[in-house]
Amino acid sequence: MTAAGGAHVPLDIERLRRERAGARIGHTIDYFESIGSTNDRARDLAAGGAPEGVVVIAEMQTRGRGRLGRRWESPAYRNLYMSVLLRPSITPESVPSIGLTAGLATAETVARWAPQARIKWPNDVLLDGRKTAGILTEAHDGTAAVVAGIGVNLNMTADELPEELRDKATSLAAVTGRTVDRTAFTLALLSQLEECYGLLCNTGFAALRQRWEDLSCLNGRHIRVSGAGTEQEGTVIGLDADGTLLLRSAGGEEVRVVAGDVTVLDGYGSATGPCS
Ligand code: BTN
Repeated sequence: MTAAGGAHVPLDIERLRRERAGARIGHTIDYFESIGSTNDRARDLAAGGAPEGVVVIAEMQTRGRGRLGRRWESPAYRNLYMSVLLRPSITPESVPSIGLTAGLATAETVARWAPQARIKWPNDVLLDGRKTAGILTEAHDGTAAVVAGIGVNLNMTADELPEELRDKATSLAAVTGRTVDRTAFTLALLSQLEECYGLLCNTGFAALRQRWEDLSCLNGRHIRVSGAGTEQEGTVIGLDADGTLLLRSAGGEEVRVVAGDVTVLDGYGSATGPCS
């Protein structure tokens, strides 16, 4: 990662609100200079009856959360920390498809700045094998809401990351060598998300599967998936129509994986490969 991350320019919240007025996603934008976690704020808004499409954005998070209980580094004015409140008419089993959809929209948006962007199942966005964006999807049954939390490292520099993450994570600016206009990126992501989510609601994940697979860095790779106390290993066949990851085990059986953390086992673990 280079040292050049550009000045700490605030988001142009007035422009964001103006350009998203009347949209399905982002018609209302709740904006904070600092917050614990935008996902927690979106959950509270959902509990208070807020409608689908409300978006929470913060310039920094003091308790940013990642998947599997991890912390999400959230320094001020560098990146994008955003949570989207959704109220999809889907079964609980289909909730993971929301995360896949948000991951696809994020990867397609990152690819407009850096065409080498790839998705690592379930929804990490990688640049040159390093994580640049992540999605934390949380379903709140009591309020029939799903919160899709999206974190994208835009202008963060290496010294803003803990040392142990420096070979695993990067930012769009570090890879391209150019400071990212965070407002323009946020607008592009919101409209990509609206398009992808519309297709998911109208047609189901099957309408997005090919686009997702085109950006996947795992097809044909030998992987291990860990999570919920189990481990599954096999060669990636692809995604099922509902977004389930399909593996071929050493014994030749098809294995279906709905959640977990992926480790690539066949030589693509290096920083030079498309996946870490
Ligand atoms: C991951 O571990 O890959 C998911 C990271 C999700 C981070 C985002 S930043 C905005 C939202 N608020 C949070 O506390 N987490 C998500």
